[in-house]
Amino acid sequence: MHPLLSLCVVWLLPMALALQENSPVDTFPRNGISLFHEEGIFNYSTLLLREDLGLLIIGAREAIYAVDLHNVSKKFASVKWEVTQKQRDDCRNKGKNPETECKNYIKILHEMEDTRMYVCGTNAFDPECDYMSYTNGKLNLENKAEDGKGKCPFDPYQKYASLMVEDDLYSATSMNFLGSEPVLIRSPDVSIRTEFKSTWLNEPHFVSLAHMLESVNSATGDDDKVYLFFSETAVECDCYNKLVVSRVARVCRGDLGGERTLQKKWTSFLKARLECPVLESQLPYIIQDAYHWCDPDQPWTECLFYTIFTPQSDTSDLSAVCMYKALDISKVFSEGKYKTPVAVETSFVKWVMYSGEVPSPRPGACIDNAARKAGINQTLDLPDQTLQFVKNRPLMDQVIQPVGGKPSLVRKGAMFTQIIVNQVQAADEKMYHVMFIGTENGTIVKAVNYDGEMFIIEEVHVFKSSEPIKILRFSMVTDQLYAGSDSGVVQIPLATCERSSSCMDCVLNRDPYCGWDKKSGKCVALSKSQNKLIQSVQNGDASLCPKSDPFAPVNQSIWIGGNLKLLCTNPSNRAATIWEQDKQTLSPTRRHHFLKDGLLILNASDSDAGCTVVCQWSARKQMSTQAL
Ligand SMILES: *[C@@H]1O[C@H](CO)[C@@H](O)[C@H](O)[C@H]1NC(C)=O
Ligand SMILES: *[C@@H]1O[C@H](CO)[C@@H](O)[C@H](O)[C@H]1NC(C)=O
Ligand SMILES: *[C@@H]1O[C@H](CO)[C@@H](O)[C@H](O)[C@H]1NC(C)=O
Ligand SMILES: *[C@@H]1O[C@H](CO)[C@@H](O)[C@H](O)[C@H]1NC(C)=O
Ligand SMILES: *[C@@H]1O[C@H](CO)[C@@H](O)[C@H](O)[C@H]1NC(C)=O
Ligand SMILES: *[C@@H]1O[C@H](CO)[C@@H](O)[C@H](O)[C@H]1NC(C)=O
Repeated sequence: MHPLLSLCVVWLLPMALALQENSPVDTFPRNGISLFHEEGIFNYSTLLLREDLGLLIIGAREAIYAVDLHNVSKKFASVKWEVTQKQRDDCRNKGKNPETECKNYIKILHEMEDTRMYVCGTNAFDPECDYMSYTNGKLNLENKAEDGKGKCPFDPYQKYASLMVEDDLYSATSMNFLGSEPVLIRSPDVSIRTEFKSTWLNEPHFVSLAHMLESVNSATGDDDKVYLFFSETAVECDCYNKLVVSRVARVCRGDLGGERTLQKKWTSFLKARLECPVLESQLPYIIQDAYHWCDPDQPWTECLFYTIFTPQSDTSDLSAVCMYKALDISKVFSEGKYKTPVAVETSFVKWVMYSGEVPSPRPGACIDNAARKAGINQTLDLPDQTLQFVKNRPLMDQVIQPVGGKPSLVRKGAMFTQIIVNQVQAADEKMYHVMFIGTENGTIVKAVNYDGEMFIIEEVHVFKSSEPIKILRFSMVTDQLYAGSDSGVVQIPLATCERSSSCMDCVLNRDPYCGWDKKSGKCVALSKSQNKLIQSVQNGDASLCPKSDPFAPVNQSIWIGGNLKLLCTNPSNRAATIWEQDKQTLSPTRRHHFLKDGLLILNASDSDAGCTVVCQWSARKQMSTQAL
C-alpha cells in the first residue's frame, strides 16, 4: 500500500450570482416578540395607536385594554364591557348562540378631536357605542349607550369597515339584525347613507375605508373623498352563477344629500370594479384588505393603494398583492363612462356602457369651483336630472387595473389576510416600500418591491399556525409592528438586523432597514448607525463584504480508498454552496456527498490526486413567484 498525496487545495470564495432557483424563505419564531393576552379573553381584533399617550388600545371580546406602546406585555389599564343578562337572553331568544354570538365584541375604536375615544361593540346582536377616556392611568367608559346601528355590525363574524375623520364616523356595515341591509353611512351630524338598492350594494363584504385629501391645493376647488373597498355580487355579469367582484367606491366629504331626490343619501356614491389578474384564474380574485399609502410630502395624486386578493374558489392556494394608483382610480370616477342597465327581455337586465348625454353637473362629482360658479354651492342645490342619473347608475364602465397590469406579488401558501406598508430609505438613498402581510397561518411576510422584482425578506411566525392575523398596525414612534389575532396581540420590530451574524447573511437578506457595519462587525439598523454600512438591496451583492478571513488553501493527504471530508460552512441560509473540482462544478455522486458543513469524498482514487477543490457560495436571488 502506498500513500497517495492528494493536493486538494480548498478555499472559500464568496460570490454573488443569481440562481434561477426559487428558494423558499425559512420561517422561524423570532426572539424579541412581546405578547399580550389575558386569561379567558379572546378576539383581539381591534387596535388603536395612541402615540400621544404612549399607549396601544386593544379591543377584544367584552374588554378593552391600554398597554405600553413600547412593550405590549405591560398592561396599564383595562375596562370590561359585558352584555347584561337580559341582553344575552334577548339575543338567545332570537336564535343566536349565547356563548359566542351573544357577547360584546369590540369592533370600533377611534380617536376623537377632544382626545377621547369612540368605541362600539356588537353587544349581543344589538350594537352600541360609547365614549372612553384615559385619565389617571385608567380607562373610563362614559356609559352613553349610543345606538350603534349602521356603525358597528350586529354579527361579530361579519366584515365591516370604519373610519373617523374629524369626528365624522364613516362606517360600512349592515344596519339590521339579519345582516341583509348594507350601508355606507356618515354620522353623527348630518347622517348620509347609501340608497338601499342592489345596484348600489349587492351582498357586499366590506374591507376598508380611506380618507384622501383631494381638496388640498386643488386647482378645481375639489372636495376630499372617502374611498371604500369591498367585494359584492356583480349585478353587471351576464352569467348563470353568482359572480363576486372586487370594488372601490367613493363619496365626497362635503356631500349633504339631495333636496328631493336622494334626500339624506349620498349624491356622490360611485363605484368601479377592481381587477387583480392572477394567471390561469377563471374567476376573479377577491379583495381582502387595502392599505392607503401616502407620502406626507407629496400631493395625494402620488398616493397608492396596496391591496391583497385571494381566490374566489378553494381550488387554488395563491394570494396576490395588487397596487393601484390613487390617481388612476380617481380618474375613472371623474372622467370615465358610466354603465347603465337595459332591459333585454321582460325580466332580464343587461348592463352596458352608457353612451347617451350625461347631465351637468357631472353625476357623482363633488361640488367644485365650476359648480359653485353655476350657483350650486352644496349637493342640496344639485338638479334632479344629475341626481336621478347617479341614483340609477352608480357603477362606472371602466375596470381599474393595477400598476403594471398585473399583481406585484403572487405567493403560494397560507392565504393573505392583512397588509400594511412602510416606507424606508435604504443606504442607496432611494425610498423603498416594505410590505408586511399577515396570513391565515399566523405568520407575517415581509416583502419589498425592488424595481419590479418582488423580494421576500422573511416570513415570521408570530402566532401558532392556523391562527389568522386579524389586524396589523405600526408605529413610527417605536418602529414596531403590532398584530392582533383571536388569542392575543404581538409586537415585533420592523427589522431584526442583529439576527444576521455574518456580512454575507446581512447583505443577502436585502433588508433595506439593515446594513453591515465593518467597524463593529455587526449587522445593524440603518436608522441607528452613524457609520457607512454595507448594503445591496437591489442586487444582494455579497462581494461588497470585506474579504472574509483569509481562507488559506490547505494541502490534504489521503490514502487510496480512504475517505476525506473537506469543511466549508455556509455563512448564510440564503446562499447556496457550490463545489468545484479543477473548475468543473461537482454534483453529488456515490463518491461525492454534499453535507451541510462540507464535502465528503469516499474511496479516494488516483484521479483525486493533485486536484483543486473549491467551495463557493452564491446568493440565491429570490424572484417573484409570478412565474408560477
Ligand atoms: C373569537 O375567538 C375564538 C377563539 O379563538 C374563535 O373560535 C372565534 O371564532 C372568534 N370569534 C370571532 C367573531 O372572530
Ligand atoms: C416587556 O415587559 C415584560 C413584562 O413587564 C417583561 O418581562 C419583558 O422583559 C419586557 N420586554 C422588553 C423587550 O422590554
Ligand atoms: C352660492 O354662494 C354664493 C356666494 O356665497 C351666493 O352669492 C349664492 O347666492 C349662493 N347660491 C345659492 C344657490 O345658494
Ligand atoms: C402553516 O404552518 C404550519 C406550521 O408551520 C405548516 O406546517 C403548514 O404547512 C402551514 N400552512 C400553509 C398553508 O402554509
Ligand atoms: C501544497 O503542496 C505543494 C506541493 O507539495 C506545495 O508546493 C504547496 O506550497 C503546498 N501548499 C500549502 C498551502 O501547504
Ligand atoms: C473503490 O474504487 C475502486 C476503483 O477506483 C474500486 O475498484 C472499488 O470497488 C471501490 N470500492 C468501493 C467500496 O466502492
